[in-house]
Amino acid sequence: MVDSTFDARSFRDALGSFATGVTVVTTVDAQGHDVGLTANSFNSVSLDPPMILWSLARASRNLPAFKQADHFAVHILSSQQQSLSNRFATSKADKFAGLDLSRGDGGVPLIDGCAARFVCRTAHQYDGGDHVIFVGEVLEFTQAGSAPLIYHGGDYVLAARIADALSADGMSTEDYSFDQDFVGHLLGRARFQIYQDVRVVLDHHKLSEADHVLLSALSARDGWAEADMDDLIEAAAATEGTAEIDRLVYRGMIERRGDALWITDAAREALKELSDAAKSVEAHVADSMTAHELLALKNRLRNLIHATSAEG
Ligand SMILES: Cc1cc2nc3c(=O)[nH]c(=O)nc-3n(C[C@H](O)[C@H](O)[C@H](O)COP(=O)(O)O)c2cc1C
Repeated sequence: MVDSTFDARSFRDALGSFATGVTVVTTVDAQGHDVGLTANSFNSVSLDPPMILWSLARASRNLPAFKQADHFAVHILSSQQQSLSNRFATSKADKFAGLDLSRGDGGVPLIDGCAARFVCRTAHQYDGGDHVIFVGEVLEFTQAGSAPLIYHGGDYVLAARIADALSADGMSTEDYSFDQDFVGHLLGRARFQIYQDVRVVLDHHKLSEADHVLLSALSARDGWAEADMDDLIEAAAATEGTAEIDRLVYRGMIERRGDALWITDAAREALKELSDAAKSVEAHVADSMTAHELLALKNRLRNLIHATSAEG
């Protein structure tokens, strides 16, 4: 019985404070159809005998299938499998369509590419209020060692293990030094490395990084009044101020028409080459992370810029 002072929504939110992995639990129903759902109620129970548990909502369409099943499989999802989590969290007719499946004990469907997988014999079923708790004896398991998908507060979270981050940097936890781990140092190094290929094109056109930002800003809003130059210079983080503009005018990259500034065809050509180089660098960066991680990284950086700006 739910106490009237007991707010279900707040209870659910409070439970969401507990970060979990995400699993897909699968089995076959009495008619031989594959069934499965996303579940984060998974947990370890016993080492000897090896046992795990998870719980299934009594309201779930999948309940009859799991109640009668002698076997089921738990797939711990990797950080690359968010779409699989979403697919198995919906009431789609065929959640398994297009998946490359193999079979485990009792013919349970097995999905590849997970962080770990446990094939279980249904050992116990317990009443768990509006859920049924399934305890499985693990018959066989595999582990890929990939980073797990994490769920917290109703959303997916990116896992960042400090030991992994340090070892990618050639460091162990013993030689951890704050200076090398300083966020400013890491941002600076990442920028230096990422910018290298763009810098080759800049050197070719004898442009500085500040020139690049300045010309990009100008190309996005051609015809700037020279009186508004302060904004442009600030946008370019240029230190030399108007001297920078004079130099670019002298170099034939900016043209003065009346009191407005325009970029020249030469600058437009250089910007096109720079943009191509930047796109290829970004594609290279995107290869080292998921689309979700890249988006999250950009959002974090934008927030950081905002939070650390003079007004922020
Ligand atoms: C991250 C996440 C964790 C979930 N965990 C559980 C769970 O542990 N038990 C459960 O019964 N439903 C859980 N669900 C909801 C089911 O995945 C969802 O109700 C089910 O797939 C609906 O499909 P169906 O209509 O085939 O039952 C979870 C959903 C998400 C997104």
